Amino acid sequence: MIEHIRSLLADDIQSLDTLIIEQLHSRVDLVENIGHYIIEAGGKRLRPLLSLLSLRAAQQSLSAEQANKGIEFAAIVEFIHTATLLHDDVVDISSLRRGRPTANAEYGNASSVLVGDFIYSRAFQMLVNVGELPIMALMSDTTNQIAEGEVLQLTKAGDAGTTETEYLQVITDKTAILFAAAVKGGAMLAGLSEENAHKLSDYGLNLGIAFQIADDILDYQGDAAVMGKNVGDDLNEGKPTLPLIYTMKNGSDHEKQLVANAITQKSVEHIDEILSIIQSNGALEYCRKVAFEYVEKANTALAILPESEYKNALAGVTELAVNRVK
Ligand code: IPE
Ligand code: IPE
Ligand code: MG
Ligand code: MG
Repeated sequence: MIEHIRSLLADDIQSLDTLIIEQLHSRVDLVENIGHYIIEAGGKRLRPLLSLLSLRAAQQSLSAEQANKGIEFAAIVEFIHTATLLHDDVVDISSLRRGRPTANAEYGNASSVLVGDFIYSRAFQMLVNVGELPIMALMSDTTNQIAEGEVLQLTKAGDAGTTETEYLQVITDKTAILFAAAVKGGAMLAGLSEENAHKLSDYGLNLGIAFQIADDILDYQGDAAVMGKNVGDDLNEGKPTLPLIYTMKNGSDHEKQLVANAITQKSVEHIDEILSIIQSNGALEYCRKVAFEYVEKANTALAILPESEYKNALAGVTELAVNRVK
């Protein structure tokens, strides 16, 4: 599927890649080095693909100007995502990202934070270049909400009483809102009304929620080689993600106590026992079920689009987002 999408968008992706590299330019070597380090590690580029698909699905005879703005917007979305990752890995004290040492592990926290700032602000310079006030409003609101989500999550770290509703708020803010904006901005640049673009953005929002639930499942079922990140990172951060919330609600007294202690103490001391509990108590099945419910909702929101191969590709992305945890 991903190959099919990439071939459908081959020209756009090439322009996107060129623009991303061009826009990393800085007269300060360290900025370029870290920028290239994280960008060249790859990443799925899921969010810019969503913008491009939404752009082309919303309007199949784009003007050259619309196409160019759409590509620039897609790069902006990937830059904002990349900047959040640079900051997130410092906050989470993570050592592995995209299958290699994180930028903070390689260059230190200070450099990561500052280059994250550079990439954020470059994204906003590019937004001015796109020159559409509603898109600037969309991306400034989105970036602000992501920051809020990361802080909200910080306040929930170590809190074993976190509810599923609170968890859903965190992942909506820190992750899903950028998926929603990626889709909405693409549609707006293609000429869809704000109202219709907003309806379509429900696809991105629900997909983003499903994606983050899948990511949180992987932390307990995954293998570091597949994830490109370390297993057990979430527990180490005392992060009350859905597999733990499920266990806190449905586990035996011993299991609840074990998980509560691990969350409160932000400790991986009992990771092996916790992994085996979560892998056998129905937590992962429950999380998958919830993720698939959001996938259904995402697909429902596609109804507003006319039939096209781009629309089909958007439907295909939902599979990609969750098939990692099937
Ligand atoms: C990582 O996102 C951050 C989360 C929201 C879980 P991705 O898994 O899309 O990261 P890359 O860009 O492909 O590395
Ligand atoms: C990723 O969140 C960062 C944002 C969504 C802003 P996580 O901390 O949950 O994701 P990973 O595990 O580091 O990729
Ligand atoms: Mg993290
Ligand atoms: Mg984090």
